[in-house]
Amino acid sequence: MSDLHLRPSRGLAGELTPPGDKSLSHRAVMFAAVAEGKTDITGFLPGEDTLNTVKAVRMLGVTVEEHGPGGLTVHGRGLEGLAEPAGVLDLGNSGTGMRLLAGLLAGQDFFSVLTGDQYLVKRPMGRIVEPLRRMGAVIDGRSGGKLAPLAVRGAGGNVRAIDYVSPVASAQVKSAVLLCGLYAGGVTSVSEPHKSRDHTERMLRFFGVKVKDEGLQVSMAGRQALRAPGTLEIPSDISSAAFFLVAASIVPGSDILIRNVGVNPTRTGIIDILTSMGADIVLEKRREQAGEPVADLRVRYRRLHAAQVSGDLVPRAIDELPVIAVAAAHAEGTTVIRDAAELRVKESDRIAAIAGELRKMGAVVRELPDGMEITGRERLAGAVCESHGDHRIAMSMAMAGLAAFGETTVKDTAWIETSFPGFERMLTQLAY
Ligand code: S3P
Repeated sequence: MSDLHLRPSRGLAGELTPPGDKSLSHRAVMFAAVAEGKTDITGFLPGEDTLNTVKAVRMLGVTVEEHGPGGLTVHGRGLEGLAEPAGVLDLGNSGTGMRLLAGLLAGQDFFSVLTGDQYLVKRPMGRIVEPLRRMGAVIDGRSGGKLAPLAVRGAGGNVRAIDYVSPVASAQVKSAVLLCGLYAGGVTSVSEPHKSRDHTERMLRFFGVKVKDEGLQVSMAGRQALRAPGTLEIPSDISSAAFFLVAASIVPGSDILIRNVGVNPTRTGIIDILTSMGADIVLEKRREQAGEPVADLRVRYRRLHAAQVSGDLVPRAIDELPVIAVAAAHAEGTTVIRDAAELRVKESDRIAAIAGELRKMGAVVRELPDGMEITGRERLAGAVCESHGDHRIAMSMAMAGLAAFGETTVKDTAWIETSFPGFERMLTQLAY
């Protein structure tokens, strides 16, 4: 078990390029695997989650070459080219890996089994199993298919197109249904209560697939071939940048530049929320990469005030809410986060985890069933904190430690490797 030790920062300074976007990295490998032709991927996240997806795709008969950190060549086998895996596909800690792959496998003409670590096998899988069964796949799993391991007998040539009305705003659910829908004869559609991240829709288009996006409903005709785009450049992950956006906003004297960050509007809730709290964030050099908007982010310290977070904003900042809670604990007034019950079924119960850890540092936090209320104070006190087996809780508490007085220890931080290899090195370079 590794721990992280933090001491008060005198202000963050300098530049960083966070690792590649996790959502895009999973998708890039899966889509390139079923595309026709070869895809050279740059900026791929060499984290445990996404490397597990590479392993799984290799077990499906796809050749993936690695060229140092972030460089991959995927030799696509076409929609019908995957092979039945000889062993169990282990997606480790990754909900995205498991749910998206289950969608793809539901369309195959073969049998496969998906599993994960002690945290992933506790997370809800019924949300994808139910629509994929309606599309014709035969899926079993623990608790009648609500929990992994999942055994998938793909529907092969008999996949049925469906119009799915998802009860949750989840890009993972939307993507699983669309990936299975690639194998259907007709048009598959998914609608959701709030807009979730649209990386699947954008990347399918980048591979030449026609996808219709009408706000809360997306639809796509099946049996469209994916054409390898040649090169696919993945930008840095805004969810990783988020830790430094918050740290620079709460540690007096900070001034940093975060380079090459994906600023897809379905992901920029963190920027909107921090800006509404008074943060000084400037987007520079806006450009586009692989169908995704990208910018450099300049952040300087400024005293924050409280924010109200609910509704459509929630899915746009879902993975950043723990670190937004850290910002709120340093802001003037009471921040209220609502409509975020999904946080309870992420890598940990993130409402209970962040509320409990912030309280150890003297923060005033009240848990709500679907969020929390946080009353800010000038400075928190260093403490010994737990990661709860969750990379984002570990990194959020590290940021709180930079702004606190006294020393902070975050225990069991190896989980950070799932999404942010090099985190400690970047933090040390910028913060002290
Ligand atoms: C992801 C979608 C989100 C997010 C997760 C990555 C994706 O989950 O929390 O970290 O890549 O599709 P849901 O959309 O299921 O809430």
